[in-house]
Amino acid sequence: MASSTDQNGQNGYVDVLGLEFTRNVIGSMGPDTWPRLREVMTALIKHVHDFARDVQLTTDEWMAGVQMINWAGQMSDSKRNEGQLLCDVIGLESLVDDITFSAATKSTSGLTASAILGPFWRSDAPIRENGTTITFDTPEDGQIVFMHGKVTSVETGRPLANATVDVWQASTNGKNSERLDCRGQDSKQRDCNLRGVFKTDSEGKYSFYCLRPTPYPIPQDGPAGKLLGLMDRHVFRPAHIHLMVCASGCRSLTTQIFDEDCKYLGNDSVFAVKDDLKVRFVPRKDDPRAELELEYNISLAKAA
Ligand code: BEZ
Repeated sequence: MASSTDQNGQNGYVDVLGLEFTRNVIGSMGPDTWPRLREVMTALIKHVHDFARDVQLTTDEWMAGVQMINWAGQMSDSKRNEGQLLCDVIGLESLVDDITFSAATKSTSGLTASAILGPFWRSDAPIRENGTTITFDTPEDGQIVFMHGKVTSVETGRPLANATVDVWQASTNGKNSERLDCRGQDSKQRDCNLRGVFKTDSEGKYSFYCLRPTPYPIPQDGPAGKLLGLMDRHVFRPAHIHLMVCASGCRSLTTQIFDEDCKYLGNDSVFAVKDDLKVRFVPRKDDPRAELELEYNISLAKAA
């Protein structure tokens, strides 16, 4: 039986199952490796080796994984990030988002929680007036919501004027209005339907009309969808609205809010739901433009 003392022993045998092998791979990094990269790669090599030992990974299984990663690369371009989607379905983007946000904010109490950006944000959404709508050609099954709230500083409680609240959501068919040349989304929606950027007033307030969000599936035609199927999981995201909020002197916030009545809340296919981000849509009175209302206040931390 091989032992760690056999590592690079006189007979040339390399005990790849032993920890000495892993130490040897880690030790092959040269002195000019950046310290953070050394830290990350040391842990990655250690965990990947331990994973292979734990599950006794076979060559065929490893090659199936390599092919899946290659497929993700082949499907990806500037408009589609299948590698990100693969990470999403195993919870990695949510985990990294939480580590990044918690580290930067030191878990400040009262702060609005973050959630992953997802693939559908656009940098060119139009600035719209408070009190106007982001929903055009509203679908017959769409319910209109008047959403409003206040953006404040978590440290001082004061309103943040001139903050931008960038909002985007899918339509009731589960599709986002995308750039016209973008694959897989809805060319029937007008450009920048269900998107807009609102600026807070002197009291930190914003408001707009939007759709009550509905659940929708993530793209299923690539390795992320394939992996979900192999793991006997569904592809749905719970009903949500995306927000990106920026104010001068504050740390920007990317988040999503989730309809507390949605049946997929407890099993989001990309694991983005947090308790603090669940919201309730309530009936709106005396407004012919909306049947529902949502007040959502946002609290930002000061920038580092
Ligand atoms: C979304 O928000 O729609 C989304 C997020 C992550 C992966 C796929 C879709």
